[in-house]
Amino acid sequence: MAQESYETLDYDIIIIGAGGAGLRAAVEASENTGLKVAVITKSLLGKAHTVMAEGGAAASFGNLDGQDGWETHFYDTMRGGHFLNNYHMAEIHAKEAPDRVLELENWGAVFDRTPEGKIMQRAFGAHSFRRLCHIGDRTGLELIRTMQYKAIHTGIDVFQEVTMTKLLVKNDRVAGAFGYFRADGRFVLFRARAVIMATGGWGKVFKVTSNSWESTGDGAALAFRAGVELMDMEMVQFHPTGMVWPPGVRGLLVTEGVRGEGGLLRNSEGERFMERYDPERMELSARDVVARSIFREVQAGRGSPHGGAFLDISHKGAEYVKRKLPGMYEQFKTLADLDITREPFEVAPTCHYTMGGIRVQAENCATNIEGLFAAGEVACGLHGANRLGGNSLTDLLVFGRRAGLGAREYLEGAGDLADIDEAELRAEMERVLEPFKREGGVNPYKVHEMLQEIMTDYVSIMRTEELLKTGLEKVLELKELAPAMSIDGSRTYNPGWHAVFDVENMLLLSEGIVRSALERKESRGAHWRTDYPDELPEWQKINFVETLDGSSIKLRTEPVAEMPEELATLFTYGKAPGLVTQVDGKES
Ligand code: FUM
Repeated sequence: MAQESYETLDYDIIIIGAGGAGLRAAVEASENTGLKVAVITKSLLGKAHTVMAEGGAAASFGNLDGQDGWETHFYDTMRGGHFLNNYHMAEIHAKEAPDRVLELENWGAVFDRTPEGKIMQRAFGAHSFRRLCHIGDRTGLELIRTMQYKAIHTGIDVFQEVTMTKLLVKNDRVAGAFGYFRADGRFVLFRARAVIMATGGWGKVFKVTSNSWESTGDGAALAFRAGVELMDMEMVQFHPTGMVWPPGVRGLLVTEGVRGEGGLLRNSEGERFMERYDPERMELSARDVVARSIFREVQAGRGSPHGGAFLDISHKGAEYVKRKLPGMYEQFKTLADLDITREPFEVAPTCHYTMGGIRVQAENCATNIEGLFAAGEVACGLHGANRLGGNSLTDLLVFGRRAGLGAREYLEGAGDLADIDEAELRAEMERVLEPFKREGGVNPYKVHEMLQEIMTDYVSIMRTEELLKTGLEKVLELKELAPAMSIDGSRTYNPGWHAVFDVENMLLLSEGIVRSALERKESRGAHWRTDYPDELPEWQKINFVETLDGSSIKLRTEPVAEMPEELATLFTYGKAPGLVTQVDGKES
């Protein structure tokens, strides 16, 4: 048999992932820098989970509520994250979000406006003020559209439909990535002086999810195998409102914008049940609280016919709903034959976001591998134990830019492209082609389905020691099956082949989730343990960090960095800074 060949492409910086964070990083890495930059995606440009941040981008302009400011945004983000956040990331994010949104506007994003012509902002869960800059309920889509256009015109190269199977590290520095073109199975080596990982999260490990097929955690898994540290893996967000019916669209996102625009949640008895769980903030409580509340109502036998709650926005009138939430109107009309301007609809929690991920430096998104940077959902730190809605879009703008800058600065002192060990590439090609050679093995789609069942049954919204232990056992058993995954057909457009690597990545990250979920013996944010129902101060000080030793995941604790005095004082009154008035040094 002829020896396998591969194409070699050389770049200064490669960015793996073409969602919001990847594109924002690309602009910063490429615009007027003279650097050779490539964006590589396994999907198509513009097809990313970013579009599922529908309701808006959080930035404290105070266009409607003049008291808002970065301090209040910072305060809300830290409280929302139950103080597990990297405070410095939260500070940078709150301070820089408005500039990043304005910059996006300058690049062509068409935000909804107030009657005075300012960017319109809407309320969202656990934000103290109306803070979400939006374009109807298609904000993520507009953001991607704008950045795609901007990034392309900085002169980047784009490689679509490429599966990356290995991140290359030479002498403790990142050296590039190896993979294949999905269209025809040709192998490709990207040599690079710096790599930015922006591949998003791994919501596809759960059965009911707002994530589409891309969200299999490839970047986190590749980086983990190459030696990066992952952090807070137990923290997985269930968005309170996904579609429930019909079954084919279960999990599809129903934007928080519906509640932001006045939508009310009711149980089967017609009660506004949020009164029971958060009477102050009601439907606009934090996501972890609302998701748990719906779950509890269902458990108590007060759920909707298909196991959720009713969300109703019909009282706002058809004209208002169609103007503010055109996407939701269309979505329900087309997929469920239901008119949300006239009747309530069923919703239930859906896996939406992974707060855990690659551990990065706040300032420049650097990882523990030299030359490797990470931004967006694949990275960890900003959101702590629970992300506030709208903070994902500004996260990817703020930290996408910083990752691009970080990589540029790194290149100033970095050497040339590294020579890659030929034997390493030969071994990788052999590994990647193995599933074709195995006969009568397991179908990767079957393994994925089994993994989703396990994660949903044992590691989901409600957790206990017993559930998690069983979940871990089952994930490990399934991992044993992975080397037997086999596929038929050729290398030309063979989705089963791609699925093998997606599944391997998800198995690894699922194990990571369960291992740290078992260790966090308290309830905090999205991590709800009914056997340890309280949030305990000693656990607030601890992040779980995971590393890979061979094929074993090692877990250690790291102290959460303490806020400096000037930030800590923002929490003195237990009220958002914009809501505190001080008279003679006392709160009023
Ligand atoms: O509900 C939403 O529109 C989602 C927003 C987000 O995840 O930030």
